[in-house]
Amino acid sequence: MSKWLEGQVVEHKAWTDTLFSLRVESPPLTFAAGQFVRIALDLGGERIARPFSFVNPPQDAVLEFYGVIVPEGPLSPPLARLRKGDRLYVADNPSGFLVLAEVPPAEDLWLVATGTGIAPFLSVLRTETPWQRYRRVLLVHATRRASELVYADMIDAVKRQRGERFVTIKFTSRERTPGALEGRIPAAIRDGRLEAAGRPIAAERSQFMLCGNPQMLKDVAAELTARGLRKNRRRTPGQITVESFW
Ligand SMILES: Cc1cc2nc3c(=O)[nH]c(=O)nc-3n(C[C@H](O)[C@H](O)[C@H](O)COP(=O)(O)OP(=O)(O)OC[C@H]3O[C@@H](n4cnc5c(N)ncnc54)[C@H](O)[C@@H]3O)c2cc1C
Ligand SMILES: NC(=O)c1ccc[n+]([C@@H]2O[C@H](COP(=O)([O-])OP(=O)(O)OC[C@H]3O[C@@H](n4cnc5c(N)ncnc54)[C@H](OP(=O)(O)O)[C@@H]3O)[C@@H](O)[C@H]2O)c1
Repeated sequence: MSKWLEGQVVEHKAWTDTLFSLRVESPPLTFAAGQFVRIALDLGGERIARPFSFVNPPQDAVLEFYGVIVPEGPLSPPLARLRKGDRLYVADNPSGFLVLAEVPPAEDLWLVATGTGIAPFLSVLRTETPWQRYRRVLLVHATRRASELVYADMIDAVKRQRGERFVTIKFTSRERTPGALEGRIPAAIRDGRLEAAGRPIAAERSQFMLCGNPQMLKDVAAELTARGLRKNRRRTPGQITVESFW
């Protein structure tokens, strides 16, 4: 059984009208980069909890979460209204399999996200493990609009530290953005644009971690399967490790 810990918001950041981050002080938690934890608020006499991925790496004392307001959702709108000093609950049992301990070695590690699915990868990127185990790390982030390509300063800092070993590829699907590819990731795998912007994709050299929209996970996995990659399972290791956000 998990227990609820009390956390306190120390910073709220609004990226857009619908995207927000919270930094939260709580009693210490043990987790691996890429994992998530349930966070909760008491609403209408009921404790409403949802899983959220850690943006912060495990070594950081302050927790960070990145979210989108789903207007009809029970938790995300009130969560986005929290401000410095407000309290929320954090479960004491982080979990999840979108972690490098589950991913076989390879030359290239691809971290592929839509929307808020970038959150766990921001944690992974700021640990030493990917840089010890893979020659290159490629971060692919696809959003509807340029304003949703968040955490640019953090990503730039990783780039400054890791140089050519770190490749970032951005997509916007509903407007043209300088420096970003257009449309969706699966189409760019099919027509070669993703490889042209990154690295060749092949089962012998590539490992993919996918996170975000469940239909994106399916469509990207289908394109990669057509290229000879397969789902990574404990009993049958492969090249595609996924985490669906809904
Ligand atoms: C393992 C895991 C990790 C997660 N990590 C995060 C995270 O780091 N950040 C985050 O914002 N959400 C994350 N989620 C989703 C999160 O748990 C909630 O579902 C989300 O905050 C909406 O909560 P809600 O109560 O408002 O609506 P819900 O009733 O939970 O969801 C309603 C609908 O909103 C849509 N939706 C839910 N989450 C998202 C999303 N992230 N982006 C776009 N559409 C969505 C889906 O269509 C869903 O059916 C994660 C989910 C899982 C399973
Ligand atoms: N982002 C916003 O402007 C916005 C505004 C208000 C509310 N919301 C709420 O947030 C939710 C969605 O937010 P979101 O924009 O973060 O997530 P999203 O709908 O998953 O979109 C993020 C990115 O994923 C792409 N995508 C969607 N399906 C895909 C697939 N099958 N294969 C590959 N790529 C795919 C989208 O492309 P496409 O554009 O082609 O779909 C977009 O580029 C909505 O349910 C809504 O409630 C979002």
